[in-house]
Amino acid sequence: MATRPIGIIMNGVTGRMGLNQHLVRSILAIRQEGGVPLPDGERLLPDPILVGRSESKLRDVARAHGIERVSTDLDACLANPADEIYFDATTTPLRAANLRRAIARGKHVYCEKPLATTTADALELAGLARRRGVKHGVVQDKLFLPGVLKLRRLVDSGFFGRILSVRGEFGYWVFEGDWGPPAQRPSWNYRKEEGGGIILDMFAHWRYLLDHTVGAVTAVHCLGATHIPERVDERGRRYAATADDAAYATFLLRRAEGEVIAQLNSSWAVRVYRDELLQLQVDGTLASAVAGLRDCKTQRRAATPRPVWNPDVPNPVDFHEQWESVPDSGEPDNAFKTQWVLFLRHDAAGEPFPHDFHEGAKGVQLAELALRSWVERRWVDVPPLPSPPDPLSVPERGDVLSSPSPSDPESGTDGPAAAC
Ligand SMILES: NC(=O)c1ccc[n+]([C@@H]2O[C@H](COP(=O)([O-])OP(=O)(O)OC[C@H]3O[C@@H](n4cnc5c(N)ncnc54)[C@H](OP(=O)(O)O)[C@@H]3O)[C@@H](O)[C@H]2O)c1
Repeated sequence: MATRPIGIIMNGVTGRMGLNQHLVRSILAIRQEGGVPLPDGERLLPDPILVGRSESKLRDVARAHGIERVSTDLDACLANPADEIYFDATTTPLRAANLRRAIARGKHVYCEKPLATTTADALELAGLARRRGVKHGVVQDKLFLPGVLKLRRLVDSGFFGRILSVRGEFGYWVFEGDWGPPAQRPSWNYRKEEGGGIILDMFAHWRYLLDHTVGAVTAVHCLGATHIPERVDERGRRYAATADDAAYATFLLRRAEGEVIAQLNSSWAVRVYRDELLQLQVDGTLASAVAGLRDCKTQRRAATPRPVWNPDVPNPVDFHEQWESVPDSGEPDNAFKTQWVLFLRHDAAGEPFPHDFHEGAKGVQLAELALRSWVERRWVDVPPLPSPPDPLSVPERGDVLSSPSPSDPESGTDGPAAAC
């Protein structure tokens, strides 16, 4: 079968997400399968070039995974017409500027969440991409988790009757780094000034997850906290944690049959006593379900126990036993890879891809409004975002960016792709 190569500039692959989820479990896994099948019978074969600031780290990654091309010159990579897609998994505050450069060069752009650190920047990126006519997408991996796919099937089938509420628990203990186990997350996550904070990090997920499984988020109430005020960084230095490491939030969701209340705890300072790191319980008049990353269990109206409060005797009921598992439908695949395949087919064959920058901006908006709710100690409405702009009505900034000037370091210069 004929293969068609597609060059992908991958920025941030020396980091956790870029390396593990995007390079190894997505792009390299797709290559190992012989590429993405296209409607015309060809297979699209990703050809990554790894870009970053540390040549030695990039070379180590490339060597370990049999990749030929690395570069420390992003502008040179962006100047190479053979590399059609720019992917970004760098730290959150770097994303918007990198994407602007890529869009200006006419690259199709795909990136980690959150799309930007402010709604204004996120909407600007959506406008720029639209005006430049490039394909754009944001990672919304949780939608492709097997447990969440099962939950969504239940919701779509009307299984719950009228949905009343959602309660969610996300989190685990992130080690402080001051004894024994090293911290499992990078230190910038705990520094507000470097784009850290669990609200900016996780509410981008909660937005698309709630919007597309249960109902559109219309209001948020959020209380954040910095439970662990001091941590130890990658080099063993103590630092003040200036960002939120937990958030206790309530949301209102709109469904045709009425409002749904959702409560979600997000924490990097909680010890796990549940089946999976993310657990969502949905209760409805006819049934309930508890979904995790892979599994989903249900209990119907007729099977609902009638527990009796009696602390004077040992609990006679095993509540967990009374739930039924939703069967798998097919062999589950990695959620990030599934979304990469969709983006690549969108890029090469024009298939629909709803996870675009406008959707990504909604996640940033929810994080921003949750932070406002915390600061102002009040409920905050989540208004609809302005519709994606018409390609011809985007502000002038798009024009400036689409014709790079040598005096603008953000816009880059033409040149050969470095060390490809
Ligand atoms: N979808 C999800 O479930 C999920 C989960 C976690 C994180 N994320 C998102 O993924 C992104 C990356 O998170 P991570 O945990 O992978 O972070 P990370 O491990 O710290 O990796 C950050 C990457 O950015 C690069 N970088 C950092 N500072 C840079 C600079 N000044 N100039 C150029 N490159 C720089 C790093 O390169 P060096 O190696 O050279 O430092 C590294 O490649 C974040 O936006 C985060 O919100 C998504």
